[in-house]
Amino acid sequence: MNLLESLEWRYATKKMNGNTVPQEKLDYILEAARLAPSSSGLQPYEIFVITDKELLEKIKPIAFNQSQITDCSHLLVWAAWDGYSLEKIEATFHKILADRGLPLTQMDDYKNMLWSMYEPRGKEWQSVHTAKQAYISFSMAIAAAAEQQVDATPMEGFNPEELDKLLGLSEKGLKSAVILPLGYRDAANDWNANLKKVRKPINEFVHELN
Ligand SMILES: Cc1cc2nc3c(=O)[nH]c(=O)nc-3n(C[C@H](O)[C@H](O)[C@H](O)COP(=O)(O)O)c2cc1C
Repeated sequence: MNLLESLEWRYATKKMNGNTVPQEKLDYILEAARLAPSSSGLQPYEIFVITDKELLEKIKPIAFNQSQITDCSHLLVWAAWDGYSLEKIEATFHKILADRGLPLTQMDDYKNMLWSMYEPRGKEWQSVHTAKQAYISFSMAIAAAAEQQVDATPMEGFNPEELDKLLGLSEKGLKSAVILPLGYRDAANDWNANLKKVRKPINEFVHELN
């Protein structure tokens, strides 16, 4: 299947069958998430992979009792930085420069320019910005899962404050942004499995300004 065929194949799976996604497929999906681009390359988010059954049972009511939380093989949680800081920006730029064998001061001007833009916008704006970056990675994971014929349910249907509390994210300076159960469809019991994929027609979606 090429990419478009995989994206046609995938759907927001409502009922999973509990089967386990092999480690190599999980690794592939996580690598696609890691390779996602992000603004200034800051990757201001981390991913938590949850398989602990007791923990998943606790997450389920926080996610409106959606059955995929406990029927999935792995639950991925994108947790975004709760804001930027000069130290965090600097640490990331130092890693980029060190990995490339470049002088660690090379991005100092850019770092200061970035912080002079981000700092006055405040924590709330920063937190929305970090979450936006997390969604790009989330999207890559959805596409990679489809390519691997692994089902997934993109999910915002959960209470982020309660999930943060349960996973101890605030102490780590993180906020849950979005979650993705991975697994395999239970097609016979999934009302969404065989519905036509509906999207806006291309002429209403794409506007060519020639
Ligand atoms: C950010 C985001 C959040 C979503 N949250 C949920 C959710 O909590 N539960 C759910 O069953 N589906 C959820 N969906 C699935 C969408 O309803 C679904 O992707 C959309 O209707 C298009 O259908 P398709 O993914 O099957 O092609 C979410 C999708 C996205 C992208």
